[in-house]
Amino acid sequence: MNILILGSGGREHALGKALKKSQKTGKIFFSPGNAGTLLTGSNINIDHNDYDALRLFIQKNDIGLVVIGPEAPLVDGLADQLSGDDGLPQLRVLGPGSKGARLEGSKSFAKAFMKKYTIPTAAYLEIDTSNLSDGLNYIDNNEGPYVLKADGLAAGKGVLIIKDREEAKAQLKEMLDGKFGAASSKVVIEEFLDGIEFSVFALTDGNNFALLPEAKDYKRVGENDEGPNTGGMGSVSPVPFFDEQLKQQVIDSVIQPTIDGLKKENIPYTGFLFFGLILCDGQAKVIEYNCRMGDPETQVVIPRLRTDLLDLIIDSTDGKLSNKKVATEDGSRVAVIAASGGYPNDYEKGKEIFGLENLNQDNVFHAGTQIKDGKTLTSGGRVLAISCPGKNIQEAIDNCYREMNKICFDKIYYRKDIGKDLLET
Ligand code: AMP
Ligand code: GLY
Repeated sequence: MNILILGSGGREHALGKALKKSQKTGKIFFSPGNAGTLLTGSNINIDHNDYDALRLFIQKNDIGLVVIGPEAPLVDGLADQLSGDDGLPQLRVLGPGSKGARLEGSKSFAKAFMKKYTIPTAAYLEIDTSNLSDGLNYIDNNEGPYVLKADGLAAGKGVLIIKDREEAKAQLKEMLDGKFGAASSKVVIEEFLDGIEFSVFALTDGNNFALLPEAKDYKRVGENDEGPNTGGMGSVSPVPFFDEQLKQQVIDSVIQPTIDGLKKENIPYTGFLFFGLILCDGQAKVIEYNCRMGDPETQVVIPRLRTDLLDLIIDSTDGKLSNKKVATEDGSRVAVIAASGGYPNDYEKGKEIFGLENLNQDNVFHAGTQIKDGKTLTSGGRVLAISCPGKNIQEAIDNCYREMNKICFDKIYYRKDIGKDLLET
C-alpha cells in the first residue's frame, strides 16, 4: 500500500519510519516533509489547501492511505473531503473529520462536551464581548494564577497563565480585541489546576480504541520548566507514575466517556485522540484534547510499539479495533529536541548541521531541516529530535545526550534536564 503523510515535523518522520517497517507498506510520500523524511520516503510539495492537486496526486500514485499529521487540516475538514470523495473509493484516511477535530479546534466545544459527559476537567467560564464584565468580575473575585485560553487554534500560543490580576484583566480584553485574530473572539477562563502533567494517546475507530504508550512532554523552553511555552522540548515514555490504577481511572473516567460521547453526538472519529492530562490529588483531569499525535511525544511513543503500526491504522480506518491490544517495547525512551537558539522567539535559519552521519539513524527524527546543495541545514525552530531507548529512564537519558553530543550547528540549544524529574530518588 502506498502512503501519503501530510506534515513536516518529527511526528510525521516518526510515523513514516514506523510505517516503513510494515510488510504491507509500498511507497511513502511526505508533503512537504523535511531533510530526514527524504531518507524514509519521497518528499512532495502540495499545498494542503489545493484539494484538486492533492486528489490528482493520490490518484496518480495509487495512494491507499493518507495520514494527516497536524491539526489545522483536520479542523479545516480535509479528512471529510478525502473520505467523502467518490473519485477516491479505495482511499483510507487517518484523522477525524472537522466535527471530531473540534475537540481540539474549539476550547469552548471541548469544555461543553466534557461538562455534558461528566469528564473531569477544570471549572470554566466562556467569555466574549457580550459578557466581558462576567470575566472581569471572575478575575476580581478569584485568586490567580488566571488561565485564559483562546477558543480557536492559535499555533500553540493561545493559552496564557497570568499571576497578576490587573495583567489578566488587560490580557482578557486584548484577546477579545483580536490578540490571536478570530481564534480569541471567544475566551475560556479556567480554574488553575496544580499537578503533574502527562499525556495519553488512543487510536480509535469511533467505537473501540487501542491504548498507545503514554508520555510526558517538556513544554517550557528552559530547564526546570522555566521560560516561555514551546511546542515541546523533549519527552519520556513510559511515565513511571502512570500505574495500572491510574490507567484504569483514565480509561473509565476520560477515554471511554469521550468515545461514548462522540458516538452519542453522532460524530464519527477515526484517528488519534491525544488527552493532555493533569494529576491533581490522585485524580486525572483533562487539560486539553488534541485530534492528532503530539510532537515530540510521537518520537517516543511510536518507536516503542511492537505491534505493526499499519495494521493498527487499517483496523482503525476499517472499524475493526475491538479488543486490539498494543504490544510495547520494555524499558524507557527519552527524546530531546535540538532547537535553533532563540526559539520560541526569533531565531536564525540556514545553519549547517554537522555530525548527523555519526548517529544511529533509527534514533533521529527531523523537523525543521532542509537539504540545500547537498548540505543539511536548519529551517525551523525545532530542528530535530534524538530519541533513544534504554533499560530505564536514566540509561535512555544517557544514550540520548551521548548522541546529542555528536551533532552541532551554530547556536544549537537543547534542554539538559529532560526526564530528570522522573528519576527515582
Ligand atoms: P493547552 O494548550 O490547553 O494544553 O495549555 C498549554 C499549557 O498550559 C498546558 O500544558 C498546561 O501546562 C497549562 N495549562 C492549561 N490549562 C491549565 C489549567 N487549567 N491549569 C493549570 N495549567 C494549565
Ligand atoms: N507536544 C504537545 C503537542 O504536540 O501539542
